[in-house]
Amino acid sequence: MRPDVTTALATLEAHRAEMGHRRIVDLFEEDKQRFTKFSARLDDLLFDYSKHAINETTLAHLLTLARAADVEGKRAALFSGAHVNNTEDRAAHHMALRDMSGNATMIDGHNVTGEIGRVRKAFLNFAMQVRDGSIRGARGAPFADVVNIGIGGSDLGPAMAARALSPFRGSGPRVHFVSNVDGADLADTLKTLNPATTLFIISSKTFTTQETMKNAQSARMYIVKQLGEKAVPDHFAAVSTKLDLVAKFGIRKERVFGFWDWVGGRYSIWSSIGLSLAITIGSAKFTEFLRGAHDVDKHFMETPLESNIPVLMALLGVWYRNVWGYGSHAVIPYDQRLGRFSAYLQQLDMESNGKSVTRDGNALTMATAPVIWGEPGTNGQHAFFQMLHQGTDVIPVDFLLAAQPTEADAQHHALLAANCFAQSEALMRGRSRAEVEEILHKAAMPAEMIAALAPHKVFSGNRPSSTILYRKLDPRALGRLIALYEHKVFVQSAIWDINAFDQWGVELGKELCSKLAPIVEDPSKPLDGLDGSTAGLIAARRALMG
Ligand code: F6P
Repeated sequence: MRPDVTTALATLEAHRAEMGHRRIVDLFEEDKQRFTKFSARLDDLLFDYSKHAINETTLAHLLTLARAADVEGKRAALFSGAHVNNTEDRAAHHMALRDMSGNATMIDGHNVTGEIGRVRKAFLNFAMQVRDGSIRGARGAPFADVVNIGIGGSDLGPAMAARALSPFRGSGPRVHFVSNVDGADLADTLKTLNPATTLFIISSKTFTTQETMKNAQSARMYIVKQLGEKAVPDHFAAVSTKLDLVAKFGIRKERVFGFWDWVGGRYSIWSSIGLSLAITIGSAKFTEFLRGAHDVDKHFMETPLESNIPVLMALLGVWYRNVWGYGSHAVIPYDQRLGRFSAYLQQLDMESNGKSVTRDGNALTMATAPVIWGEPGTNGQHAFFQMLHQGTDVIPVDFLLAAQPTEADAQHHALLAANCFAQSEALMRGRSRAEVEEILHKAAMPAEMIAALAPHKVFSGNRPSSTILYRKLDPRALGRLIALYEHKVFVQSAIWDINAFDQWGVELGKELCSKLAPIVEDPSKPLDGLDGSTAGLIAARRALMG
């Protein structure tokens, strides 16, 4: 760790002792300008971070930490196309995919702007032709359903976004997502479809991912069985960086859309991996989605750290993770159609920053990625919010809310928004023992009952949260939300000095699975050499299979 980072962290540790005695509600009492001071805007998007255990000194110390970690220098390197993904020796320039300013983007000495534009035009044209029915299935019928087969970054982004933006589908086909190698996923989807009006998109950066390849082969068999071998080219399209492997699968060249190794899987929604989303919302709306992300890129690049939203989000995360020791972070969208947003963020954050060595391979001396989780409000309130309010762990929360409903029901939305505001207020305010006793006393409860019940009704409060308020869940707003979190994750990786763009941690399980698969599949194979538990489990499965 750089010595000045160590010093900045030590300063924050000392400062925490001071802040540990402060209550957030009192900070509001002391400073009537607190909301204005501790909120930042990007046009009509508001980031409220006033309900945190911070004051101006905290922020100053956190900004010192960011500067000590050279966040600005690392940000410049990211946007320059340098090989920031050092273990795979490549750039991580997903921002280039959403920059439609026409400026040159140089990666590995080449201006990639033209190529990006050509690929984007090709997949957006294809999306529009699928939507308007000019591209049809083998029997001449337009496509009523599109199935994206992919996993991880080739599924979570488009699946999350297609659901979030479903009101913008218009007369386009229904879009489905199959990811799990569990045959139930494909089977349940196929049950609802007519093969003659179904298009499959095989989405895989590497075109080797076991789950995707298995599902793709099964989908191919389904089309062959239902419509004949000759129908295959009419019912498949693909998105990949490995065009040679796609060709072997038998997909027509003009239906294969490429992207580049400098686009990480979990950052690939902006590339042709977004094809299924483009089919869902159409080309113009997809372009708006890209514009939203580009707004954030500009904000991230050009805004001073003090009011730079992703930087602030990242610093608050570091404050709680590294200084307070909190191990998890909840993201609760009060937006039903963001139902997959937390799952999407899990890959973005935990696959990027779930590391325990620095970029140079040295053991990290500080904690990295917290567990990211969440479910939409208000549903979560009737499930895990008990723990958020009264559990022994403090879990910082991000609340997400649109100011305007997508559905034209103002009453529902007012209630939704009131719930969102009430929860962050309750987490902060809490309810003291004295307040509880007073309430119970006023309700004429006998003293001994009050004594027994009061501890259960106390809320410690002082639990931190941010609120991100945007005008409406439209393509531009969603593009902004995603990019805010992308850059938050990047800033944290800069502070922790880790490579956010590799994912070696997924390899071992994949490798062991390919060794175990033939043994699991063939019950006559011996279990010698396996550890006792693995052998025992395989044997038990064999016995249960009968
Ligand atoms: O196993 C993890 C992973 O490599 C992710 O990083 C990636 O998004 C996912 O698998 C899917 O990979 P692909 O797009 O190559 O099929």
